[in-house]
Amino acid sequence: MTVEFDADLIEQGRKLFAGDWHFFWAAPAIEALPPMAGMEVAFAGRSNVGKSSLINALTGRGALARTSHTPGRTQELIFFEGPGHAGFRLVDMPGYGYASAPKAKVASWTALIHSFLRGRGNLARVYLLVDARHGFKPVDLDVLKTLDQSAVSYQVVLTKADQIKQADLQARIAATSAALSKHAAAFPDILVTSSETGAGIPELRAAMLRLLRERS
Ligand code: GTP
Ligand code: MG
Repeated sequence: MTVEFDADLIEQGRKLFAGDWHFFWAAPAIEALPPMAGMEVAFAGRSNVGKSSLINALTGRGALARTSHTPGRTQELIFFEGPGHAGFRLVDMPGYGYASAPKAKVASWTALIHSFLRGRGNLARVYLLVDARHGFKPVDLDVLKTLDQSAVSYQVVLTKADQIKQADLQARIAATSAALSKHAAAFPDILVTSSETGAGIPELRAAMLRLLRERS
């Protein structure tokens, strides 16, 4: 279940992310979003799956998005912008399914996540991150439901590929594909990444470049 990217697309993708990406906006609530402009790509997933780390790996800036080994690090919608591509933004999202956080906080993050995914007109793609070791959990299925109901296209990314044996990874890909076949709005292809080793990062950059070209 891997997509082929030619060398040119990979190189253009590298260039897209080579410049100086920077923080643009933090929205603690849906009323505080930046004005819609350009194209946004969001990274969603359970707490601790590696959303912020993936943004750092993509942009080659180790500390652009704040990461932590304890779940619940990202608590707002954080927007990043690249140089020379005004209006192309990456959106780091709070994680969901974090059982130990105060209930009121979890409820407010979850509401924020779902309303953003449902109602953002310039959201071109959502990458739904899933830990390759764990696969889909029930709380992911709630988010799949929201994505199915919204008009946005989404794709699953299996993260932390460095933490799982090849054979187990292949089994995880097969099981995830099977689960996704019931979701018509989902991309059938699954991306596999490691922010530790850089595996899958050039392909993900190329995928976003392709999206940007399609949209502009
Ligand atoms: P929240 O903001 O709390 O929702 O978490 P997050 O999804 O943004 O996760 P974050 O990027 O903060 O990473 C969580 C932990 O996983 C950190 O300790 C990271 O170093 C680690 N991590 C992230 N990606 C990878 C990876 O590809 N491989 C390995 N081995 N560890 C990773
Ligand atoms: Mg985070």
